[in-house]
Amino acid sequence: HKIAVLISGGGSNLQAILDSIDSGYLNCSIEAVISDNPSAYGIERARSKNIDVFILNKKIYGDRLSDEILKILSGRVELIVLAGFLSILKGDILKSFKGRIINIHPSLIPSFCGSGMYGIKVHKSALEYGVKITGCTVHFVDEGVDTGKIILQKAVPVLEDDTPEILQKRVLEAEHRALPEAIRLILNSGKQREGIK
Ligand code: GRF
Repeated sequence: HKIAVLISGGGSNLQAILDSIDSGYLNCSIEAVISDNPSAYGIERARSKNIDVFILNKKIYGDRLSDEILKILSGRVELIVLAGFLSILKGDILKSFKGRIINIHPSLIPSFCGSGMYGIKVHKSALEYGVKITGCTVHFVDEGVDTGKIILQKAVPVLEDDTPEILQKRVLEAEHRALPEAIRLILNSGKQREGIK
């Protein structure tokens, strides 16, 4: 199974996928890593594994980003994984790869999600609201933001003296288990249509 991973930052979720491939948990290969941020540390993680890296600076590509990604990936991969990818995909790629793009979000959707809700902000909001349980969600990507069918979720407790940083770390650990699990579920069951029932 050939997949692509899209990143914008540190790439710890990319690393979790790389580790899952090395351990044999995932039976797939990463054909390409695409970053919309030229200074994403995830680029180094990919390069150290001799994976093709494409840097498509969103400041330069702007509205053309999605079409450029489609050009690169069309016919090359069966699944596109957004792992800490902050640009919003739109247009033809959503049709060509319908049911074959997944995203991981650091909350239990439909809470604390939608445009502008990413990174540490998600955890700040969860703490402000006072939820006792939060977690992460892997879902299919559709035309909306964080609105596609949910594939799997992992819950984590919110503790008394949690800071946003402490909570983010706890959720990130759950993400690193959830994303490889979701990829395996999809690749092994071939259920690449919208949602898994
Ligand atoms: C983190 O906020 C994570 O929760 C979300 O994307 C951000 C960066 O993740 N999925 P990564 O370390 O770049 O994978």
